Amino acid sequence: MVRKVKIGVMVSGGGTNLQALIDAVNSGIIENGEISLVLSNKAGVYSLERGKNAGIPTAVVEKKNCTDQKDFEAKLIAELESHEVELIVLAGFMAILSKDFTDKYAKRIINVHPSLIPSFCGEGFYGLRVHRAALEKGVKVSGATVHFVNEIPDGGEIIMQKAVEVMEGDTPETLSARILENAEWKILPASTELVCKKILSGEI
Ligand code: GAR
Repeated sequence: MVRKVKIGVMVSGGGTNLQALIDAVNSGIIENGEISLVLSNKAGVYSLERGKNAGIPTAVVEKKNCTDQKDFEAKLIAELESHEVELIVLAGFMAILSKDFTDKYAKRIINVHPSLIPSFCGEGFYGLRVHRAALEKGVKVSGATVHFVNEIPDGGEIIMQKAVEVMEGDTPETLSARILENAEWKILPASTELVCKKILSGEI
């Protein structure tokens, strides 16, 4: 059997990026990886349904049920290890991970961020807040970035970026929708496949 990288997708919300990854595995855009786990830090989110509908094991670890960050991360790691996850994809995962966690998975965590890093990124810039800040600044072009994750929020090495035009009259919601459709759903699966290939070849 052909060896595939076991991917764990970490989520917090609706999971349209997770869906793009599931679709990319099914269509063969991702051929060197398979999704082994959908891991959420929020119970009841639609991402978990998407995972179940695709026949992928799902798990929930909520910080409010943990004693502290260390305990939270130990429980995340226990889930990841029990599903033998080799590559973590953060797809709308809205919790900060400590240096201990990111060091343990150096070059084994990637994240999608809804702007062209280094603009509108770092602590406090997530979800619609990113698009609100971009519109307030008046940028004419925004986009999405996929990057490796290290201890600096949105600070790891960039893997792929795609620019998207800002339109007159955009709201955070319309800009978010355009960036998801035209950038995130394309570069996240493409980056995942690229990183899986590099892991299998031993390049990283
Ligand atoms: C996406 O736009 C993703 O880039 C963003 O949250 C959204 C999740 O949507 N992530 C961040 O802001 C992380 N800093 P989804 O649940 O539909 O994939």
